[in-house]
Amino acid sequence: MAIRFEDIKPKIGSRILWDDRADLFTEEAAAAIRAKVEERTVVVFPKVDLTDEEQLRITDLMGGRIRITGRNNVQEIENDDVYQVTLDAKINPQPEYVLGTFFWHMDGITIDTPPPFATLLSCRRKAPQGGQTEFASTYAAYEGLPEAEKAALEGLKAVHSVKASLRHIEDAIPEKVRDAVIGIGLIKEHPIVWTHDSGRKSMIIGTTADHVANMPIPQGRALLIRLQEWAAQPDYSYRHEWEEGDFAVWDNTGAMHRVIPYDERSGRMMHRTTIAGTETIN
Ligand SMILES: [Fe+2]
Repeated sequence: MAIRFEDIKPKIGSRILWDDRADLFTEEAAAAIRAKVEERTVVVFPKVDLTDEEQLRITDLMGGRIRITGRNNVQEIENDDVYQVTLDAKINPQPEYVLGTFFWHMDGITIDTPPPFATLLSCRRKAPQGGQTEFASTYAAYEGLPEAEKAALEGLKAVHSVKASLRHIEDAIPEKVRDAVIGIGLIKEHPIVWTHDSGRKSMIIGTTADHVANMPIPQGRALLIRLQEWAAQPDYSYRHEWEEGDFAVWDNTGAMHRVIPYDERSGRMMHRTTIAGTETIN
């Protein structure tokens, strides 16, 4: 097989390299990429310049597409399975959910299906300032916790909501749409430690996690914020500086992600697809 991988950081991130671009679109390559995403959290395809059709082909080969975002966008593209991530008001008249991604989160935690396995992003236009995406491996972060802290997390559950994920920007949302914007999604209780079918453990944390069930609100929120900070430390996280044409795939079931703030007039444009999850949370 004429694809190969190289590590970006010791505990997170790989780059895929290829001789012939056609080698990226085979079932064999998709299985190898999926395994690498699970092992290394994020796989970057430098300057691969995928078309939407090619991105969807990789999405399907790696496990199958799912749509997780409602359609507020007035997209420039026809295909509804590709979501244009942008703050451009002509395309995205309701920017709040994109603004919410300035903060550490996982995708699809408050929907009624298993969380998406992976999110896939192509950089069509980068922002002149900001707009980098950061990834934090909650597998590596969990593994690195002191044993006493791992024991203390056993059995704890957190309550997740879209409202919580927008807490930092709630007062910046126009009042006439605020209740509707923060009211979407379900309120879901998930264990903080997710024991996967593989036996490995990751953490379900990020801004959707509002509080810890059966724990006083201040103590629970302080714990959730400390876990976010722990996972975001440089050993477990990676910041990707996008170049136009870059494509990245990450394991949404074992990582938080966020974008470094950028301006709505920056022109930043990302094309996103999503791979359906197959694992219910245990
Ligand atoms: Fe996201």
